[in-house]
Amino acid sequence: MEIIKVKDYEEMSEKAFSLMRAVLDDNKHPVLGLATGSTPLGLYGKMKRFYEEGFSYKHCITFNLDEYLGLPEGHPQSYRHYMYENLFNSTDFQGDNIHIPDSTGDPETICNMYEHSLDSNRIDLQILGLGGNGHIAFNEPGTPFDSLTHVVDLTEQTREDNSRFFERKEDVPTQAITMGIGSILKAKKIVVMASGAAKADAVYGMLEGPVSTDCPASALRNHPDVVLIVDEEAASKL
Ligand code: GLP
Repeated sequence: MEIIKVKDYEEMSEKAFSLMRAVLDDNKHPVLGLATGSTPLGLYGKMKRFYEEGFSYKHCITFNLDEYLGLPEGHPQSYRHYMYENLFNSTDFQGDNIHIPDSTGDPETICNMYEHSLDSNRIDLQILGLGGNGHIAFNEPGTPFDSLTHVVDLTEQTREDNSRFFERKEDVPTQAITMGIGSILKAKKIVVMASGAAKADAVYGMLEGPVSTDCPASALRNHPDVVLIVDEEAASKL
């Protein structure tokens, strides 16, 4: 694993964007694995600026990692809404090329179809953030490393962490659809971003703890091309 230590969030976002640019330059039809949360917002800001400067994303295919279950369609905290708000509405990504797990149909069928689409479009670059407990996407501790797209029950810590985006903690869904750890590991290249003291334990577990399902991010040590971009606060326990 390559580890890039940076000063802060801004520098982390710049580095991530330079790795993203390399993949956009090298591929005719780049397949991008995208994440939600606060971590990739800086990167998405830079991707929007790149579009304003003349770059077109029309030829790009995207897959999002996960989506809540049980939120009404169009809910402002759905990951679909987040992606349109923070990236797709201000760029020219094409609707037909955008894949986000559909939270409105039969979850089992949706999971199978999603994994099938992933197999037909291998991800060139997967962007990942880290949960405070070392989760990746919504793969909570205990998830098998060979898991594929599936329905998960969210842990109390994850619901607590994500409650800052909702009016009340009770409003945070209890379930989600997520790409599995095995689905994520199929990507050709993975870029993990970690910023801030709240991620220090997860970064420690990912790099220096045992490779174990207790820390889902430790599975990334089994992948041949992972870059971790970590800022000073997130690296403080190494
Ligand atoms: C959620 C998402 C993850 C994300 C994590 C960290 O649980 N499912 O994909 O990495 O939050 O979020 P943040 O970047 O806001 O810290």
